[in-house]
Amino acid sequence: MRAHEAGWAHAVESARGPAWLRQPDDPNTLVPHLWSSTARKVDGVLEVGGVAVTDLVAEHGSPAYVLDEADFRARARAFRTAFSGYDVYYAGKAFLCTTVARWIVEEGLFLDVCTGGELAVAERAGVPADRLGFHGNNKSVAELTRAVDLGVGRIIVDSFHEIDRLAQIVSTGDRTARVMIRVTAGVEAHTHEYIATAHEDQKFGFSISSGDALAAAEQIRAVPGLELLGLHSHIGSQIFDTSGFEVAARRVLALHAQISEELGVVLPELDLGGGFGIAYTTQDDPADPTQLATELTKIVTDECAARGVDVPRLAIEPGRAIAGPAVCTVYEVGTVKAVELDGGAVRTYVSVDGGMSDNIRTALYDADYSCTLAGRSSSAPVLLGRVVGKHCEAGDIVVKDEFLPGDLVPGDLLAVPGTGAYCRSMASNYNHVLRPPVVAVKDGVSTVVVRRETEDDLLRLDLGPGAEVEH
Ligand code: LLP
Repeated sequence: MRAHEAGWAHAVESARGPAWLRQPDDPNTLVPHLWSSTARKVDGVLEVGGVAVTDLVAEHGSPAYVLDEADFRARARAFRTAFSGYDVYYAGKAFLCTTVARWIVEEGLFLDVCTGGELAVAERAGVPADRLGFHGNNKSVAELTRAVDLGVGRIIVDSFHEIDRLAQIVSTGDRTARVMIRVTAGVEAHTHEYIATAHEDQKFGFSISSGDALAAAEQIRAVPGLELLGLHSHIGSQIFDTSGFEVAARRVLALHAQISEELGVVLPELDLGGGFGIAYTTQDDPADPTQLATELTKIVTDECAARGVDVPRLAIEPGRAIAGPAVCTVYEVGTVKAVELDGGAVRTYVSVDGGMSDNIRTALYDADYSCTLAGRSSSAPVLLGRVVGKHCEAGDIVVKDEFLPGDLVPGDLLAVPGTGAYCRSMASNYNHVLRPPVVAVKDGVSTVVVRRETEDDLLRLDLGPGAEVEH
């Protein structure tokens, strides 16, 4: 990108905002499909799960992630129902704590974890091990040993080194492991480069086209303690168009058929991964689970018929599409600053009490979000605002462009929808900012499910000069 003398963000969009952003007739109203199902405005105050965010902030402070339990469960259930006959894994990397792990089990889903840490949360939550899928491109011997000891339902192997590690672990003869092979289908998913995962030039999986995926199947089949259940393909994230899944399914099922012919084994399962997109702004128009199920099932059924193979047991792994819309983040406005741009236009910077430490997605992926004034209504003329955080970094932007009431003042509350996925789970302590709590709301009751960090939490790891490190 070329440098612009007024700053990179200025170079990207003018002060009128991006072309897709429309000035709302009334900025007080919510755009329903961006919000969790129980969100509504009552006399200008945002209510979620029957709890007014003004009360929620008075009780729990700000910023806070507000998790709509009914909405989260309903989305999990909707996938479970629409994809009946599939195993539906919730991808815990989107957002995981013991409470949502329990909800996932209660709603009849499986859980996908990808590190020892996520596995620990699943264990603490009492998720049955056979309902777990364990991902990751660099699982350590310790992580794999733990997974095998626990009896994790499926370990999705990602490298030849991992096959060797697993072979070593089960070589004692007292344990076995059920595995799937993560394959790279060579598909260019239409999403941000950092969250596309099925093109060849990236770190995940075994390439189908190079023959590595077939070789991996051969190697696994040669280890007596490893049971190969099937192939796994995940093409990327925040995907709206099923054509990428179609191309991937074709290539993966070609390999599935080849394994059957050449290795003489019909793999019983096939995992299509996750990646279903959600609406962050009015420009996004995601498919619902029923539509996705119809399309994906047709793609696989047609391809299996064309190849003369039985349809394996199918699985999917939605993360964002379950957690994302179920959460909004509530912030308090701290400062409001009008900045004059070239040509006399003005951009209003609204600083809130969080930022890139609770939502890195805007800075990292150039993601778009929206927001609303959450604690009162306003009849002031709108202005085009940019919501920024409190971090020492110019790229610390939460919402790049939004029409907001022109009378915003310090102390006002702003709420950003769609922050349930990859916000708390990617949160940091940059600038030693404390990570916000996750407050679940339901039927007028708010419950802290992940508490706010304290300065003691931060300083607990800081041992000071000359301290003895305990191992
Ligand atoms: N399955 C596998 C193997 C995955 O790697 C992922 C996401 C998922 C399922 C779930 O994808 P979802 O349905 O949530 O899109 N931090 C990025 C997203 C990274 C996704 C990583 N893998 C973001 O904030 O957009």
